[in-house]
Amino acid sequence: MPLMLLTFLLLAPLTLLPARADTITSTPMPTPVDTPAPEAGTGWRTKPLVTADKAMVVTANPYASRAARQVLQQGGSAVDAMIAAQAVLTLVEPQSSGIGGGAFLVYWQQQQARLTTLDGRETAPMAAPEDLFMDEGGQPLAFFDAVVGGRSVGTPGTVMLMWQAHQRYGTLPWRELFKPAITLALNGFTVSPRLARLVEKDQAYLARDPDSRRYFFDEQGRPLPAGSTKTNPLLAAALSRISIEGPSAFYQGALAAAMVDKVRQASPAGHLSLTDLADYRVKERAPLCAPYRQYRICGMGPPSSGTLALGQILGILSHVDLATAGPNSPDSWRWIADASRLAFADRNLYAADSDFVPVPVTELLAPDYLAGRAKLIADDSVALPQVSPGTPVPSLGRRAPDHSPEFPSTTHISIVDAEGNALSMTSTIENGFGSRLMVQGFLLNNELTDFSFSPSRNGLPVANRLEPGKRPRSSMSPTIVLYQGKPLLVMGSPGGSSIIGYVLHSLINVLDWGMNLQEALHQPHVLHRGGTLEMEPAGRNLALQAAMAELGYDTRLTELNSGLHGIMLHENHLSAAADPRREGMALAAD
Ligand code: GLY
Repeated sequence: MPLMLLTFLLLAPLTLLPARADTITSTPMPTPVDTPAPEAGTGWRTKPLVTADKAMVVTANPYASRAARQVLQQGGSAVDAMIAAQAVLTLVEPQSSGIGGGAFLVYWQQQQARLTTLDGRETAPMAAPEDLFMDEGGQPLAFFDAVVGGRSVGTPGTVMLMWQAHQRYGTLPWRELFKPAITLALNGFTVSPRLARLVEKDQAYLARDPDSRRYFFDEQGRPLPAGSTKTNPLLAAALSRISIEGPSAFYQGALAAAMVDKVRQASPAGHLSLTDLADYRVKERAPLCAPYRQYRICGMGPPSSGTLALGQILGILSHVDLATAGPNSPDSWRWIADASRLAFADRNLYAADSDFVPVPVTELLAPDYLAGRAKLIADDSVALPQVSPGTPVPSLGRRAPDHSPEFPSTTHISIVDAEGNALSMTSTIENGFGSRLMVQGFLLNNELTDFSFSPSRNGLPVANRLEPGKRPRSSMSPTIVLYQGKPLLVMGSPGGSSIIGYVLHSLINVLDWGMNLQEALHQPHVLHRGGTLEMEPAGRNLALQAAMAELGYDTRLTELNSGLHGIMLHENHLSAAADPRREGMALAAD
């Protein structure tokens, strides 16, 4: 286990923000006591703060960051660079995202000073029943029984999102943007330690599909070794067709037929059809923005619960003085933990695809409602003994809480281009390696397991129950923070429902505690998603754990495997950082 070298000096003053100096102790990272499989951590690598004059990219893999940088340096827009990066990530980070999955894009268009979002979330096939993940006895399936195979596959949205984003904001020809990925797939890429480790850990599931087995294991069943050179000519051919013909090469014709065959012949079989693919639509939605102190935290509204939960937590926290308490104070973490618990209680009851179920977004973010929730945490000095969802709209009727287990996976791309356009996109195939079904060199998602497994409980409907054509609730939180009407921070992370806490902490670290992005992303995480207080076993957390237990929390030291990628827009330059917990890389692209 490499040492976690946290050497934090007094913070450099930030031009736009109130600076605050906090010293964090250096502590080796102990062996994690818990592994939130399957996309587990694969080591810690301290990363630098990267600066640029105008253009920057941060992705989860050096190949993808280089491809995006090349596009930006050729005069491409942030969207062009994203397309190149996403195509490369399909090849080099297949466990996390790809053209067989879905994504949310938050985009600041500089010329019109306009923020928008594109929803490329997977949809439930029209033939999928609401009890897809219930067994014959009426009980929810075990998670991996639900994930692995055709049953969990939703209609992929990423290719159409790339296309729609390019139609609106692309500058270079669509076809050019796939060249780096196609070249790499034909010539071969070096398998990263993270990919090799995750393949090895996932052998039992990945080897069930003959195409995945052939791709990820040799004839003796040995997993792809780190450092080996891997080609993927099938993916090169698929990307080549998409680059020439556009999205119809994916949503119709031979590739669509291959996806449907794979899903329907898998065991268990799923419900994806040619009509589901042909009918897939990306939805442009107004961004969801919530105030926090002098900032606006903007991102994806439903079907994501990400920005809604972030807005609620930060809205509650705006009633306490985090800046004065600082990152080493148990009070700060009590406020953050209990505000998160309150938001997760609401999320479990209300958050879903608002095209199918009323989601009271305005009421859940209303200042009076959040002031009432904030009173619960400010009036006490110990952990809230229990937490219940609020009733911001009593007429909404009773609902049952969601039941959808969520595991860390996914990837995040942050880009700013030379024109000042800013892009925050979180992209996923859900679980590590998705459904484990491989078609034409790419993996199909298992996004349908983001629906509640139980459609109802005790006769009450669950908002996030599966319905044909519906999009499963997400926690993905691609974020752009606005300050004085302009982007200040581009941020996001993978991590299932932990994404909300990861992004939250990175925002608090920067906005309240004055850290630069490198410092912010290297802090040990503390999360509360409604169960235990999860603490990364490092740095200040080692001392904080006893204090939090004293306050009444059920604390748990555990690996918290974020993949935060952030860019900060200063007056005259950009700074950026990639999470030390994964293989990401920030690159200046001037
Ligand atoms: N599948 C991860 C998410 O959407 O939250």
